[in-house]
Amino acid sequence: MAKIISVTNQKGGVGKTTTAINLSTYLVKMGKKVLIVDLDTQGNATTGLGVKRSLLNHCIYDVLVNQSKVDQVLLATAVEGLFIVPSTIELAGAEVELVNLEQREYQLKNALKEVENKFDYIILDCPPSLGIITINALCASNSVIIPLQCEYYALEGLTALLNTLTLVQRRYNKDLKIEGILLTMYDSHTSLSHQVSGEVINYFKNQVFKTIIPRNVRLSEAPSYGKAILHYDPSCKGANAYHSLAKEIIANE
Ligand SMILES: Nc1ncnc2c1ncn2[C@@H]1O[C@H](COP(=O)(O)OP(=O)(O)OP(=O)(O)O)[C@@H](O)[C@H]1O
Ligand SMILES: [Mg+2]
Repeated sequence: MAKIISVTNQKGGVGKTTTAINLSTYLVKMGKKVLIVDLDTQGNATTGLGVKRSLLNHCIYDVLVNQSKVDQVLLATAVEGLFIVPSTIELAGAEVELVNLEQREYQLKNALKEVENKFDYIILDCPPSLGIITINALCASNSVIIPLQCEYYALEGLTALLNTLTLVQRRYNKDLKIEGILLTMYDSHTSLSHQVSGEVINYFKNQVFKTIIPRNVRLSEAPSYGKAILHYDPSCKGANAYHSLAKEIIANE
């Protein structure tokens, strides 16, 4: 049975997709079979793994709204052992269409049941919102990774996110856990990064991953080549950090 992990934070640009792609590829490198589900209309996980969105006939929208089988929508990526349920711009309609469905919170959970025994991990790349798509992800998940950017406004919105997690735990998914808070884009040259990470660790203690993701330009270049960092520059600091994160996640098993 796969462990299902949401990478979530309604704040935009904090490193959700970068984490979903690179954590997944290192899990694969460590022998795991992994499925990424792109739940964002922006489709950054899809394109970041080299999948051409314009050529797709089906996407996660069909799974959420038209009850398509995950098996029929998932694609192999260039990385052996890594599969993706892609997203296209069509997903934009899902928020509205899901509203009328019964069991709308459980569409993704029900769909993933059919592939759960084929993967070790299913990583859900959430959009920057707390709407029904993110609720679907949280209902389907065993745990969440919350990336936090080491910047001044890092903690802004965190209360809303934690409240949403509590609500989902109470109403839909009592077993949902926090896998960890992940500090991202850490810049060792600034005292701000140091200060923010210090405060987060002080407050959330062992809920924070030991691995801290550094700000590393190689991580931001890789998606434009449709590659994960493992295949773009496996020796850079960012690559080492995501490798270490994958080890922490496996150690949590
Ligand atoms: N550790 C890092 N060092 C340098 N750049 C990074 C790092 N992590 C992410 N980036 C870059 O920052 C931008 C935002 O990252 P990413 O797309 O992963 O965030 P996101 O939370 O998924 O954003 P969104 O909320 O829009 O989905 C991207 O251009 C990405 O390449
Ligand atoms: Mg993203």
